[in-house]
Amino acid sequence: MPVLSVSIRIVTVVCMPLMFLKEVVMKNTVATFQKMKEEGQKISMLTAYDYSTAKVVDNAGVNSILVGDSLGMVMLGYEDTIPVTVEDMIHHGRAVTRGAQNALVVIDMPFMSYEVSVEQAVQNAGRIMKETQANAVKLEGGSRVAPQIKAITKAGIPVCAHIGMTPQSVNSYGGFKVQGKSIEAAQAVIDDALAVQEAGAFAVVIECVPAKLAALISEKLTIPTIGIGAGAGCDGQVLVYQDMLALFSDFKPKFVKHFAHLGDAMTEAFKTYDEEVKAGTFPSEEHTFKIDDEVIEKLY
Ligand code: KIV
Repeated sequence: MPVLSVSIRIVTVVCMPLMFLKEVVMKNTVATFQKMKEEGQKISMLTAYDYSTAKVVDNAGVNSILVGDSLGMVMLGYEDTIPVTVEDMIHHGRAVTRGAQNALVVIDMPFMSYEVSVEQAVQNAGRIMKETQANAVKLEGGSRVAPQIKAITKAGIPVCAHIGMTPQSVNSYGGFKVQGKSIEAAQAVIDDALAVQEAGAFAVVIECVPAKLAALISEKLTIPTIGIGAGAGCDGQVLVYQDMLALFSDFKPKFVKHFAHLGDAMTEAFKTYDEEVKAGTFPSEEHTFKIDDEVIEKLY
């Protein structure tokens, strides 16, 4: 056998397991997030709440999927996220993890699933992880939930924190309002960021705070910051997918950019379907199953 052919065979045999290993290594983990922060690479995160969308987001190469409790508003039609239950999160979370190969899947802990006690927080975080096979949980609040973050991470569950405007506190704010604008309020957001890092969070979502404040926090922290309405100085960005595709029309926050207009595209498609069904032009030959005429003729 020629030397070249032998060496090609050896390379193929040696490389096959490495290629397989490469597939495995592509999965985003909390370590990937940390490395990306250290190397100054931006982290992308989008929400998803079902199998098909998770697959599309994952195939697009987005680093992380958040199964946000925003599902209460964009999937279930509630006015805010307060009514969302642990069961809702598990139901949608399971569907997402089935569709996500490479994205790091983070699942929100809903309102009142972690506030009562540290024990309640660990139990619910554990249930979410066991029943969905997600990679991490997220909970809202800074210093006030530091003991919960500490206990959940100690139990071996990665925690993404969420500070700034935390939607589960909508009733305390009197609406979805930008946070951290005065010296005291801005200092409180910084203190929250430091507290959740100290408690062991692997990342922190910063929502609706002035861009300069979020940039300052991103410089101060060693863990990655993921911004939503917090400017370009964060280490990563997250958006609700219905917002960025213009699928959710109840309201449009200032920080949302429409990357596509799928709401309009869907309305057009549904209208055309309606017209074709009513005109009898759908289904046509190509969408129809055939049977031999002799079979039909023998039927009565
Ligand atoms: O629930 C959610 O989708 C969120 C994002 C807004 C960060 O928490």
